[in-house]
Amino acid sequence: MAQQDEPATPVGEETHDVEQVITPWAVQADSETGVDYEKLQRDWGAKAITPELLARFERVTGHRPHPMLRRGLYFSHRDLDRVLDCYERGEKFFLYTGRGPSSDALHIGHMIPFMFTQWLQEVFAAPLVVQLTDDEKFLWKDLTLPEADKLARENAKDIVAFGFDVTRTFMFQNTRYMGEMYRNVLEIQKRVTYSTATATFGFDGQSNIGKVAFPAIQAAPSFASSFPRVLGVPRMRCLIPCAIDQDPYFRVTRQVAPRMPTPLGVPKKEAKKQPGEYKPALLHCKFITSLQGPGGKMSASIPNSAVFVTDTPKQIKAKVMRAFSGGQEKVEDQRRLGADIEKDVAIQYLRFFLDDDEELASIETRYAKGELLSGEVKQRLAEVITPIVQAFQRRRANVTDEMVEAFMSVRQLDM
Ligand code: TRP
Repeated sequence: MAQQDEPATPVGEETHDVEQVITPWAVQADSETGVDYEKLQRDWGAKAITPELLARFERVTGHRPHPMLRRGLYFSHRDLDRVLDCYERGEKFFLYTGRGPSSDALHIGHMIPFMFTQWLQEVFAAPLVVQLTDDEKFLWKDLTLPEADKLARENAKDIVAFGFDVTRTFMFQNTRYMGEMYRNVLEIQKRVTYSTATATFGFDGQSNIGKVAFPAIQAAPSFASSFPRVLGVPRMRCLIPCAIDQDPYFRVTRQVAPRMPTPLGVPKKEAKKQPGEYKPALLHCKFITSLQGPGGKMSASIPNSAVFVTDTPKQIKAKVMRAFSGGQEKVEDQRRLGADIEKDVAIQYLRFFLDDDEELASIETRYAKGELLSGEVKQRLAEVITPIVQAFQRRRANVTDEMVEAFMSVRQLDM
């Protein structure tokens, strides 16, 4: 079953004219059409998020799915249906997400997973663990350990500013928390061969051995038993919202899970029914396109590529107005021909940030028909994003070292 469910497809299978290679560290895709998400989902054996699943989500949770979910930014999953089963039965599960500390200024693309995770935490009142992979960045980048440490501390403040519930959220930095989860890291390492690691992640003879061992460290937090003093239960299901490029880590995790030792304290009957650890469930999101359109990368070194969380309303407006447009260049042409809304960046962003379905639909139809001009759509987008960024800035300004300490201290979370 595990085989069918999680094929260890090499990450570099060819597609289209350009080879599509997606790893947790690099995204290479056709520059015209962008990433072929359907192919990824198929090759990697994940499931589509269907309207039926979304309807069930709403029935079970009593919450309208977040726009990022109902409009397809989160497009694929593993076992979300099982998480809903378990929630319906009144069983607890926990959320797990993370960030690789970096010096890059946070942009909208970084905000998305945290905004979404914060929403999930609220909907399910679920405990959350957030991993800061300072070790990963140390191994992959030209960074010293003290530098990686400092970045992790800074990034921690940004994460706190997303408004997570401190009584239910534990944030940890790998280099400091490792002792608590090292046993699980070892149990995972023992069950993943070098050839699985190279086939899944594309390591080669030149990769330092820290990299080869790292996947076990990102895998370990998927198991509640890695948090004996934080979650305080032997076994609990886990849901991981993440970008699709992180899936290779969790495919390996899911292959290993049933072969892990059954955590101490799991009642005998349950252990017999299901030995080992639970496979983590996943919710995958796409990469959000840069303001400059498909193929562009959001990057601190290209200021117009993205809205940054430090931007002023004026800067936001200016950047949004320059975004890649699916509309016609000349007003007369736009009136006559309308816009290609699937190519239009402002429309893509509105789909993720504008909650009002009716308004969105009306903007899309009128823009496609030429009743609306590109500038008008962009104007609306600036109005929608600005308050989101400003709210973040207010919270970020109020984050103190004590607050970070509170999130990072090892303590039992509320369940
Ligand atoms: N490797 C991720 C990054 O570079 C960080 C990360 C660790 C993560 N654990 C995670 C992301 C779990 C999503 C889910 O950003």
